[in-house]
Amino acid sequence: MTTKINFNGKIEDDAHISVFDHGFLFGDSVYEVVLTHHSKPVFFKNHFKRLLSSARGLSLTVPFDQDWFAREMDKTLQAAGNEESYIRIVVTRGVGEIDIDPSTCQNPSVLIYVTQIKKYPPENYRNGIHIALVSIKRNPKEALNPGMKTGNYLNNVLAKMEASRLGAKDALMLSPSGYLTECTTSNIFFVQVERILTPSLDCGILSGITREKVIQLARENGLTVEEGQWPPEALDNASELFLTGTIKKIMPVTQLDGRTIGDGKPGPVTQKLMRLYEDLLQSLG
Ligand code: PDD
Repeated sequence: MTTKINFNGKIEDDAHISVFDHGFLFGDSVYEVVLTHHSKPVFFKNHFKRLLSSARGLSLTVPFDQDWFAREMDKTLQAAGNEESYIRIVVTRGVGEIDIDPSTCQNPSVLIYVTQIKKYPPENYRNGIHIALVSIKRNPKEALNPGMKTGNYLNNVLAKMEASRLGAKDALMLSPSGYLTECTTSNIFFVQVERILTPSLDCGILSGITREKVIQLARENGLTVEEGQWPPEALDNASELFLTGTIKKIMPVTQLDGRTIGDGKPGPVTQKLMRLYEDLLQSLG
C-alpha cells in the first residue's frame, strides 16, 4: 500500500503538521474524501464546491483554485501509483498563537493524502450491515452546522463509539428535535411502500454527493424519492434501509438495533440502486 501526502504542493511519503496549527489545536479545518475510479478522482467538481462552501462557513480562505487541486491530486496519485485510491483533502486554518481567535493564522495548510483504498468487505454488500440508533444527537445546525464538512468530527466519533459498544457497525443519529439525520460518515435512506424516503437537508445533515447522485438516479429510473423530516418510528415499517457515502457507495442495512429490516437481505430497491450507481461510475470512464 502506497501513501503519498501532498503538503502545500510538495509530495512526501510522510508529512508533519505544526503543533501550533489550529487544525490540530481546535479542529479548525475543512476536508473532503474523494474516491478514484480507474485511478481518476470521481465527482471532484462536486467535492471541491463543497470544500469551498464548508470553508466559507468558517470564513476560511482556500488558497488555491480548483485547477491547482486537480493538478496536484493527479501528481500525487501518480506518485502513489495505487490501482484505486482514497483521497483526503484537508485545508486547515494554519499556524497561529495558542488562542481560539484565528486572526493570527496567516497561511492555511493544504494537504492531499493519497492512499490505497480500503474497500468494505463484499459480504457487507451481500448481507447488509447492522446499525444502531444512538443517544448522541447530531450537532444542531445553529451550533456547528453538519452541512459543513469540518475537521471537528467529535460528535460523530462519540456516536461511533456508542454504536461499537452496542455491537453495531454504524450509528444513526437524531437531530436535537428528534428527527432522523444521518450516520457518522454517510446519509441514510429507507423504503416504505414503494417510496424512497431520506431526511431533508434542513434536518441538519451533510449534503452528501452520493446522496445527491442516488436521488437523481432513482428519479431518472422512475422511482419516487421524498425528502422530509421523520421521527425514528418511521423506520418501524421500513422494508429496506441503506446508507450512502463516497467510500461505501450504497451500503444495505439489514438490522437496526438488533431488529431485522424487511426479510433480512438487501431489498430490491437497494439492489437496483446499487447496480445503477455502479453503472454510473463505469460510465465515467
Ligand atoms: N464522509 N454524512 C457525513 C457526516 C459524512 O461524513 C459523509 C461523508 C456523508 C456522505 O457524503 P458523500 O456521499 O459526499 O461522501 C454523509 C466521508 C466519506 C468521510 O468523512 O470519510
